[in-house]
Amino acid sequence: MADNVKLELGGKTSEYPVLSGTVGPDVVDIRKLYAATGAFTYDPGFTSTASCQSAITYIDGDEGVLLHRGYPIDQLAEQSSFMEVSYLLLNGQLPSAKELEDFTYTISRHTMLHEQLATFYRGFRRDAHPMAIMCGVVGALSAFYHDSTDINDPKQRMIASHRLIAKMPTIAAMAYKYSVGQPFLYPKNDLSYTGNFLRMTFGVPAEEYEIDPVIESAMDKIFILHADHEQNASTSTVRLAGSSGANPFACIAAGIACLWGPAHGGANEAALNMLREIGTPDRIPEYIARAKNKDDPFRLMGFGHRVYKNFDPRAKVLGKAATEVLDKLGINDPVLDTARELEQIALKDQYFIDKKLYPNVDFYSGVILSAIGFPTTMFTVLFALARTVGWVAQWNEMISDPEQKIGRPRQLYTGAANRDYVPVSQR
Ligand code: CMC
Repeated sequence: MADNVKLELGGKTSEYPVLSGTVGPDVVDIRKLYAATGAFTYDPGFTSTASCQSAITYIDGDEGVLLHRGYPIDQLAEQSSFMEVSYLLLNGQLPSAKELEDFTYTISRHTMLHEQLATFYRGFRRDAHPMAIMCGVVGALSAFYHDSTDINDPKQRMIASHRLIAKMPTIAAMAYKYSVGQPFLYPKNDLSYTGNFLRMTFGVPAEEYEIDPVIESAMDKIFILHADHEQNASTSTVRLAGSSGANPFACIAAGIACLWGPAHGGANEAALNMLREIGTPDRIPEYIARAKNKDDPFRLMGFGHRVYKNFDPRAKVLGKAATEVLDKLGINDPVLDTARELEQIALKDQYFIDKKLYPNVDFYSGVILSAIGFPTTMFTVLFALARTVGWVAQWNEMISDPEQKIGRPRQLYTGAANRDYVPVSQR
């Protein structure tokens, strides 16, 4: 551990311990700063602030490393399954064969939704964005599952976590079915987690749905790659909402709302829309020029990351998977050529080199999701489905943390100082 940090402010010296994690940068523990100096720190966007301790996910943005409970993401994506990764994130260890079987069974027993929730969907317009439906329906779960909202009971917390992981595919598939005017399909619990989701989304009651193993495996990989990502905006939102003691369903609905934005999970939808708008590789230079133009708000969607300054390991796996999946499905989508060309041109461009901008997880995922048959509006829903595992793991970790307090940032006030009220007749 490094020496204490000494700070001189207003003629007084105060000292702050430096804490070390297992790997990664040390942190200066400034919890006593305000009491000692009367000053706050100022860090909009939390670019230098660790908001909590966590043992779940580790990212080294300079090296392009992403570990879940110590296991590299590429190994998990290639060799594990979404159910196994979910167990790992929640419990801290890879499961034994029996533990995995029990966990998968438990999740499969929670896949149905309270029947009343189907009528809840009917309150939405058919053209509602499915993320709007997700925010509403997931938030509404707290009105249906009262027996798992006591956050002080570890058993209830685990039941709520299992319910959220299990019901998310049903909720997401129903959002899709509602938008296309097809009947909802009930879950079928002898299918895999991912196979069940595909059937509820693309199946119809009139016919048997055959799960294509290529699609099932690609979808499962996409779920693994989106399962958790340390203290990103939506996870921090879940933690902040949860820090007040709010119930888990409300907290996850808050996370979904945050994920929706185009700077975060909404980027996968925006990235594919952008690639389709570019259309052909000859138009790429025009869009690169726009992305570099300070007066144009346009950004290359699916490019850049707050933490990764070398490459996003998830994008590497997905870039490879995109080619494999399209090949196996026999799909020749020019959007993949545009994506590859755009990546090559941007990676050689000085602007992107200087700013360390690389493709992120959202750059190639849309190409695969589109090949599977999802409309772009569903892309962020799939991200939310997978990230639910990370959210509940992080939420559980926070609630069990003895140092946990309500999250309550301070501010640098720049408004008017104290002034007297003037009656409207005198203004
Ligand atoms: N295209 C063009 N310029 C960019 C881009 C981009 N995609 N991303 C960042 N820049 C520039 C930005 O203009 C800024 O330039 P300058 O220093 O001259 O002002 C510089 O790079 C640093 O950008 P920033 O916005 O200060 O960086 P940030 O860490 O606050 O933002 C980001 C990270 C991911 C929000 C941003 O890179 C971005 O908006 N990317 C496009 C949206 C996207 O793909 N989001 C998905 C992120 S990964 C998955 C997820 O989180 O859900």
